[in-house]
Amino acid sequence: MEIDRRALFKSLGGAAAVALMTPDQKADALEHYMEEQLNASADEPEYPTVADLAARNEDLTRPARNGAGFLFRQGRDGKLRKIAPMPAKPSLEDFFEYRFAPANHVLQSANRALTTGMDEEIILACLLHDVVLNLIRPDHGWWGAQLVEPYVPEKTTFAIRYHQCLRFFPDTEYGYEYPESYFRSFGEDYVPEPYLQKTHEWVKNHKWYKYPRLVTVNDLYSFDRNAKVSIDPFREIIARHFKQPEEGLGWDDSPSAHMWRTLIWPDRRL
Ligand SMILES: [Fe+2]
Ligand SMILES: [Fe+2]
Repeated sequence: MEIDRRALFKSLGGAAAVALMTPDQKADALEHYMEEQLNASADEPEYPTVADLAARNEDLTRPARNGAGFLFRQGRDGKLRKIAPMPAKPSLEDFFEYRFAPANHVLQSANRALTTGMDEEIILACLLHDVVLNLIRPDHGWWGAQLVEPYVPEKTTFAIRYHQCLRFFPDTEYGYEYPESYFRSFGEDYVPEPYLQKTHEWVKNHKWYKYPRLVTVNDLYSFDRNAKVSIDPFREIIARHFKQPEEGLGWDDSPSAHMWRTLIWPDRRL
């Protein structure tokens, strides 16, 4: 197969991102890229349109709506995930082990923030930026920020809240491009809705703009399914910046305790 070197590098997040990869990761990425190229069907248009996606949503026999969190939907194997009982006073690390695992994408993005020497508030934001997707997907920046707001530094909350919106807007200064996967998820002719445009305008001029923007940069380059990840490099950062409640997450009466309880008990009917 002929390899389009530029397209390959672009799919991996650019030359700078490739330079950070180990030889093993590069070999895996190349294999993954070739597989994808092979699977691309010549008969089908490469990306759906907004109208195509809306038509797909008309299918009422789907196993779940697109916005259902990962804990509430079938996996690629057509099965729900096993729900293990949580410790009585669960910590953030317990949620990573029992509810967010494998959490590969967020751990990869936090790793990238760590190895590129970013602030600890940003590393923590990367670690937490998508964990709420286990609960719910639409507007996950806002939901995700709300989930952790009582426990993390203000800059971390800010970064999580606005990373979702900034994902739709390229910023060449930071090396952030519009994600190719969004053509597939949102449609090739998708234009971000006015509330996203407005939020972008506001965040762009905010003194903390770099915090959510750096989350998006790490986000873009953290979809290597074969990456080996662990929470261990982040335990000290969590200890320093995440205020674990004595009663355990879910049981501390914070404004988001109910969200943690729903993660503990996704099978409760009410
Ligand atoms: Fe996200
Ligand atoms: Fe992400």
